[in-house]
Amino acid sequence: MKLTFKGTQVVSQGGSRKLFVHPEREDWLVKVYLQRFHDVNIERYPLTTRFRRLKLYWALVNEIIEFVAIRENPKTETKYLQTIIGTADTDYGLGMVVEGVFSEDGSLAPTLRDLVIENKYQEKHQQELEALFKWMENTDVIIRDFSLDNLVWDYKKQCFVIVDGLGSKAVLSLRSFFKTYNLRANKNRVEKFRIRLDRLKQEVNS
Ligand SMILES: Nc1ncnc2c1ncn2[C@@H]1O[C@H](COP(=O)(O)OP(=O)(O)OP(=O)(O)O)[C@@H](O)[C@H]1O
Ligand SMILES: [Mg+2]
Repeated sequence: MKLTFKGTQVVSQGGSRKLFVHPEREDWLVKVYLQRFHDVNIERYPLTTRFRRLKLYWALVNEIIEFVAIRENPKTETKYLQTIIGTADTDYGLGMVVEGVFSEDGSLAPTLRDLVIENKYQEKHQQELEALFKWMENTDVIIRDFSLDNLVWDYKKQCFVIVDGLGSKAVLSLRSFFKTYNLRANKNRVEKFRIRLDRLKQEVNS
């Protein structure tokens, strides 16, 4: 079955994708790519695109790979990653179906950026962010785009959930071959993230 979203309400949008509520499950979201995302990638990385088997959906598949990869080790904590249900054909092309994370009032969960801007960032958030950093520095998940907009607060689980930015962009990723290299790459992202968070807090308080 092909899902139809054109002309219906978008629930959220990032730089690459639009999000819609799944027509049959209101707790599921469907993420579809903006044509612009494909165009920019093909234009900016013509050589990489040439060698990619998947020229449009490599990012989608890479996210799924990370979701599966962390389950290779049954001891790894999985609560920090959004739950991927699968894929769905839509009138925007292939979409990714995920479990939505919501606030108590039923609206989409706030991102870390929202919490800081709205002055709702509390001690419990800080503690949970540190727990997430610790997890990132000890698991071999490949985190590419670790941004303030890609973390949302799950009030039910009382932790942050990474909803985007997983998987490498490279055709052959060193990060997937060398675990310690990947751990270092994740650690670097944590350091940069801390700086961006401090900067945002300063802006909000100034
Ligand atoms: N599973 C989810 N539950 C709740 N909100 C979500 C979920 N996934 C995404 N969102 C919200 O939608 C926004 C856009 O989603 P997402 O980050 O997946 O899109 P994107 O276009 O790939 O982002 P980017 O701009 O980083 O490329 C997120 O910043 C977040 O606010
Ligand atoms: Mg995003």
